[in-house]
Amino acid sequence: MNMPIEQLMERLASITEYRLLFASTFPERGMNPTTLAEAIATYERTVVSERSPFDAWIEGDERAIPEAAKRGFAIFNSKGQCSLCHEGWNFTNDSFHDTGLRSTDSGRAALLPNIPKMMHAFKTRGSARSNAGARICTMDRSRPLKRWSNIMTAAARTGQAGPT
Ligand code: HEC
Repeated sequence: MNMPIEQLMERLASITEYRLLFASTFPERGMNPTTLAEAIATYERTVVSERSPFDAWIEGDERAIPEAAKRGFAIFNSKGQCSLCHEGWNFTNDSFHDTGLRSTDSGRAALLPNIPKMMHAFKTRGSARSNAGARICTMDRSRPLKRWSNIMTAAARTGQAGPT
């Protein structure tokens, strides 16, 4: 992640399987930053959300998620104010925010240096139903779901929603 592209291309080229796959997939162009981006984009298009217990609950199955998660979700939408940013069907406003965590990463400001609000601003993640494009790493859908369930359960217990 965040590796200089030349270094990444060298590393990928040192892996025989990747060299062969790129050669057969892109016979004319081979492995280069453009074909790499195309390969990743094609992969990302295959990462789609499946139905989650949360979906079943929203559709009326009261037994689909624990009671504590339901209480947490109520806080999520009220006192926790989480839904200010995590809104809509995929829990994201698709916007960028500084969540206040200490970081040396300037976030969106790297691309928009003249907009002070973009300093340390990151894109709101859509979690419970992971947004395919944004969450390339989340192959295992049960993990973020479990995390959200835990966060909502913890929120219900303490009366405060969890970390952003
Ligand atoms: C001001 C907008 C904003 C609010 C309000 C907000 N979040 Fe977030 N949240 C974000 C952003 C932006 C990120 C991504 C941060 C990053 O990538 O560093 C995020 C990330 C997360 C993640 C990580 C998701 C993942 O896929 O790893 C969780 C969980 C989360 N928020 C839960 C909450 C909860 C619970 C609340 C309510 C207490 C909340 N958020 C309120 C903007 C917000």
